[in-house]
Amino acid sequence: MSKETIKIFDTTLRDGEQSPGASMNIEEKIQIAIQLEKLGVDIIEAGFATASPGDFDAISQIANRVTNSTVCSLARATDRDIKSAGEAIANAKTKRIHTFIATSPIHMEHKLKMTPDEVIKRSVNAVSYAREFVQDVEFSCEDAGRSDIGFLKEISDAVIEAGASTINLPDTVGFKLPHEIAEMVKIMSEYVRNRAIISVHNHNDLGLGVANSLVAITNGARQVECTINGLGERAGNAALEEIVMALKTRKDVFSEYQTNINTKEIYPSSRLIANITGIEPQPNKAIVGKNAFAHESGIHQDGMLKNRETYEIISPEDIGLDIKDTLVLGKLSGRAAFKDKLSKLGFHLSDEALNASFERFKILADKKKEIYDDDLRALVTNEMTKATQIYELVSLQVMDCSNGLPSAAITIRYEDKEIIDAGIGDGSMDAIFKTIDRISGYEGILMDYKVKSVSKGKDALANVTVKVSFDENVPAIIGHGLNIDTMLASARAYIGALNSYLSMKGKLKLRHTDSSRTV
Ligand code: KIV
Ligand code: ZN
Repeated sequence: MSKETIKIFDTTLRDGEQSPGASMNIEEKIQIAIQLEKLGVDIIEAGFATASPGDFDAISQIANRVTNSTVCSLARATDRDIKSAGEAIANAKTKRIHTFIATSPIHMEHKLKMTPDEVIKRSVNAVSYAREFVQDVEFSCEDAGRSDIGFLKEISDAVIEAGASTINLPDTVGFKLPHEIAEMVKIMSEYVRNRAIISVHNHNDLGLGVANSLVAITNGARQVECTINGLGERAGNAALEEIVMALKTRKDVFSEYQTNINTKEIYPSSRLIANITGIEPQPNKAIVGKNAFAHESGIHQDGMLKNRETYEIISPEDIGLDIKDTLVLGKLSGRAAFKDKLSKLGFHLSDEALNASFERFKILADKKKEIYDDDLRALVTNEMTKATQIYELVSLQVMDCSNGLPSAAITIRYEDKEIIDAGIGDGSMDAIFKTIDRISGYEGILMDYKVKSVSKGKDALANVTVKVSFDENVPAIIGHGLNIDTMLASARAYIGALNSYLSMKGKLKLRHTDSSRTV
């Protein structure tokens, strides 16, 4: 029996980035897109081109790099948004514009202040205009979950006629129960038939995003929109890894369907996104949580030793997880062993990136006795996603604390000059961040600060994530720092955020002088 392929539409870089605290810099987005392509997603929603110049740049760079997945940009149903989306994805090998407008009575009346007829007219214009840029146009009925089914049919007829080939029915507020999604999708797929593909996009406000996506598939949806680790607006989106592994594990129920996902890339994808965003999946999160394959009770351990299938429905290897958390390399390991290990972890670096990562590995191996896979993943991700080093930390000395005033002496390299300064603060971190402010002349407001150990041991690497606002007109910027020493990791994270801000500001200036674009 030939199987139906369910298209996996990944929106980690768009809806996922709308998670509070999940904003990413351009280098980080490119690395994620490359990993999503390796994972085998059919469509990468790379961002919302008109949202900011940074989004526009990230989408165009992803469009230049990705070849196997379709690259998509979101656009509201306006000419300005669609033009911007079309320009951002212009160089993609396969491309899609995803345009949307709200179709529920509450959104049309209170948010859009438009009549249903006006909404249809606007949608038809948007889809027709999008077709001037691409062949492949997706139309989303925002808040479809609370929309009138008769209106969903009417607007679908109109946009399909105008050239849309995918009709997405988002449960924008995560309100629907599985049997209700099943009914909506069944009615709509029987109505639309082969004129377009029916897609779903389920939010997780009631914890039903994945269940709703699965019933949508058995009722006719042929595309599901989802994110890695279930990131997304509010309670998040349906988690890609859960949908895909449910389809694979319960082949008895889903025998008619398949996806193009290489499940062995699920764990590496999850780690990459957690390392970049600083948002760890909860420990008991299905498939990718730290405890997802941990068997604590004696009875379970005994059963596992006798036959893994007593308590294990998925084998960790299937998602690319080496459960042994292998001790990988030590300070005597050479460059070839390092390169080989990285390629086993799924990193294929340019010579330049490999050299930089190897140098950092050697420094780490001098200080840390045991280096694990997760240490390497964090180290390489940190190296690859670094913003241009406008300011670079040369040295840091912190004087504590208990009796006197906490103070920090810092040397920073800037344009071939080394600048040294010292400052005091209410605590050591405060002293570090204030001294960096004094040196750079930019005063950041620390909005969030998180520290997490990457692997185990007292000498574990500290992964610090900061969120800093340098300018009230620009959203706060995330920075990451990795070091055995938490103070050094914190200083690096703060300088990283400053570098990302300055790179973005430079691009902003450039784009404002480029009158050919109207973003
Ligand atoms: O949740 C939603 O409705 C969306 C649309 C823009 C597809 O994210
Ligand atoms: Zn959404």
